Amino acid sequence: MDPRIIKELRDAVGAERVSTAAEDLVAYAYDGTWAEQQPDVVIHPQTTADVAAVLRIADAQRVPVVPRGAATGLAGGALPVAGGICLNLARMNRILDICIPDTLAVVQPGVITLDLQKAVEKHGFFYPPDPASVYQCTIGGNVATNAGGPRCLKYGVTGDYVLGLEVVVPGGRVLRLGGRTIKNVSGYNLMGLFIGSEGTLGVVTEVTVRLIPKPAAQMTALAAFPRLADACEAVGNILQAGVVPLVTELMDRATTRAVEDFKHLGLPTDVDALLLVAVDGDADAVTREIAQVAVILERSGAREVRQARSAQESEALWEGRRNLSPAIQRLARNKLGEDITVPRSKIPEMVARLADISRANDLPIIVYGHIGDGNLHPTILCDRRDAAIMRRVEQAAADILEAAVALGGTLSGEHGIGVFKRDHMLRGVDGNALAYMAGVKALFDPHDILNPGKKLPFD
Ligand code: LAC
Ligand code: ZN
Repeated sequence: MDPRIIKELRDAVGAERVSTAAEDLVAYAYDGTWAEQQPDVVIHPQTTADVAAVLRIADAQRVPVVPRGAATGLAGGALPVAGGICLNLARMNRILDICIPDTLAVVQPGVITLDLQKAVEKHGFFYPPDPASVYQCTIGGNVATNAGGPRCLKYGVTGDYVLGLEVVVPGGRVLRLGGRTIKNVSGYNLMGLFIGSEGTLGVVTEVTVRLIPKPAAQMTALAAFPRLADACEAVGNILQAGVVPLVTELMDRATTRAVEDFKHLGLPTDVDALLLVAVDGDADAVTREIAQVAVILERSGAREVRQARSAQESEALWEGRRNLSPAIQRLARNKLGEDITVPRSKIPEMVARLADISRANDLPIIVYGHIGDGNLHPTILCDRRDAAIMRRVEQAAADILEAAVALGGTLSGEHGIGVFKRDHMLRGVDGNALAYMAGVKALFDPHDILNPGKKLPFD
């Protein structure tokens, strides 16, 4: 990058917030995937004004800017594939306000999701969205991907909790969108455009989220199913009985083995599927519902249903679940995890198609996911050093995405499109809708400086 631009950036935000040191460029070249690409410069803004200054200079100089939270993303969204500026928002990490009368919180984008959850829990409140990376990921990144997680079936995704955003767009203008109210139909819903935009339209510098009262009780059950299809059916049976579980997490046999080898939780590893079901609410309702759930699980074909007897036991199970990604990482040199979503009734068929795709491409594909909301994580195990394997991985990934769309589903439920699924957008999204999406991108980012090469399948 032209040293004059680096100087201009240093003058604008302070030399100490701008680094071109080799070790920084290496450190910011990664995200949660195997891909890597170094930026030309890393900037650590502290204020909205810093972000605005960077976007003003970058737009004038046509320099790419890639916003970054904790970079736990699994679609390559935070990778600077075209070089340029890595805008590291992790240091804008203050909780600005927890307003009990209005049941909301106002936070900077770099606040770690778990820190927000803990902070509001001290006041008896609950911020439900819980991506598996909740210990590391940031609210800004969650907004950028409209992150989900296990609790979405009952409580919805990140976007369902966002009341207001402050966003800086290319050129440096600051937009205040939404506000502190649940209802707001004053004008178009521009805020909604930024939720899930993967850093391609603007940089989120402040987020106002809705809170709800913390449910008094939670109980978890673990069911072992000899047949995976029965575990899928069980979730439908639970919902049809009128119980909306907090979570319904499926793990296939290979996934369960990986977790067991990693965390030694005593999970049954001789069945095709484990289903983790939790319910929450007031104590009486939870006791009644978990008993009801246990009966339904057994009637649906579970060989064994275990109920966590204590909060610690339940937390251990959840720790196992949250560590699925690292546990699976140990199975092969590399993995490619998808996050397709299909209508719930189509899950058994999708799982069957995954087995076919695995056979046809001669690759292990392990399956887990948030099956209550149709969100599956088929994960292809591979070795990137082998070109022949990688050609089959590409084919298998394409087959998976195609199958999901054919079943009425979507390419990505929660990780985003990023760079990995970009080329599939043409087949996965309505063509007329895509043309309008391109128009939205051009409206906010006419010079294509924000996270170029991501999300939309054209430059
Ligand atoms: C999970 C991530 C991969 O659910 O979305 O573990
Ligand atoms: Zn997930």
